Amino acid sequence: MKKVIVIATLSALCASFLSANEVQFDAKVLKERSNNGYKTDAKLEYKVPDVNTIPNNQFGDLVKYGRELIVHTSKYIGPEVDDPKMRFAGNNNQCQNCHLDAGTKAYSAPFVGVFAAFPQYRPRENTIGTLADRINGCMERSMNGYKLPVDSKEMKAMEAYMFWLSQGVPVGGANALEGRGLAKIDRKMIKKQAADPEKGKVVYEQQCAACHGMNGEGIKNEGKANGYMYPALWGTDDTYNKGAGMYRVLKAADFIKSNMPLGATKEAPILTDEEAYNVAAYINMDSHYRPEKINRVNDFPDDVVKAPDVYRPSIESKEHQVGPFGKIIK
Ligand code: HEC
Ligand code: HEC
Repeated sequence: MKKVIVIATLSALCASFLSANEVQFDAKVLKERSNNGYKTDAKLEYKVPDVNTIPNNQFGDLVKYGRELIVHTSKYIGPEVDDPKMRFAGNNNQCQNCHLDAGTKAYSAPFVGVFAAFPQYRPRENTIGTLADRINGCMERSMNGYKLPVDSKEMKAMEAYMFWLSQGVPVGGANALEGRGLAKIDRKMIKKQAADPEKGKVVYEQQCAACHGMNGEGIKNEGKANGYMYPALWGTDDTYNKGAGMYRVLKAADFIKSNMPLGATKEAPILTDEEAYNVAAYINMDSHYRPEKINRVNDFPDDVVKAPDVYRPSIESKEHQVGPFGKIIK
């Protein structure tokens, strides 16, 4: 018992020591490192090419297969497919559970224009990453699985689809595209205020549970490798793991504000920023089981560009999990 108390006190001391000497996240440094030399003040209009214009040839077939993989991921590379060698994803998620409408919905981290954003500086790896690396990032984290071989037909098909969706967006200039990435909730509010999972629970029960279930379990479709009608959010291995962007409170809040409950958009959100922040903290609470991502300690090796909401219990203080982020962000 005594030993437990000593250890608990030591680790508490350790945590406060860490936060006192912590390097703050500096968006300016990240911006400098991400600079690819492309400059423009113009905004590019968000345009989704018509699926009927996918060419009827071998290349078009690859694009179509890529689209199919984004929409019905679990059917081709999910954990329940017949061929064990094809079980790359560890959960029955589809890519489009988060990249909505086959990756075409603005502000749901769409694939429209995404080809033009790579290669790019990646703070999580502190190196330059390709589009294939980024896809594999989601494979290992959001899909709780394994990397697709870069020369596999599946990787080539996803790249082809993303290339096709990025027509007219100049390479290097993707950030000029309206609708790219996620829309951010109020970054002043999150600096002052911690997310409150208790309040988030109320939001969840009123606005989310009807589809995602009272215990985050979702509703699975009938049949094998068929995915979910409403994806599971926690409490099973059929969810994103702790290395995923969706496990981070700010990323999840940004996503939820413009996309959930289903039907919400950036222009017509359903939740307030505060509700999105609170419910993001609620779904990602410690008491909600979620698979671990191995070697997560290796993420973000350079503290100055480490995302403020990365939370690893033995490394970061609790503020990284729920805020307030005022002391963490420079
Ligand atoms: C659980 C949710 C989730 C699932 C499922 C998911 N992703 Fe992601 N993905 C994200 C988030 C969150 C981001 C980061 C968005 C941001 O920071 O703007 C992201 C980013 C990406 C990006 C970079 C986007 C950009 O704008 O730079 C690509 C490419 C990508 N994912 C591909 C995939 C593919 C392919 C799959 C399926 C194999 C997949 N993702 C499944 C949540 C998910
Ligand atoms: C009407 C049903 C419905 C409601 C209500 C709803 N969702 Fe969803 N949610 C979905 C569907 C369906 C998807 C998958 C996206 C798709 O297929 O278009 C999804 C996807 C998600 C995802 C990403 C999926 C993943 O695999 O991790 C998160 C996170 C999420 N919802 C959170 C919420 C939160 C938080 C609320 C409440 C504020 C909410 N949802 C309300 C239907 C719903």
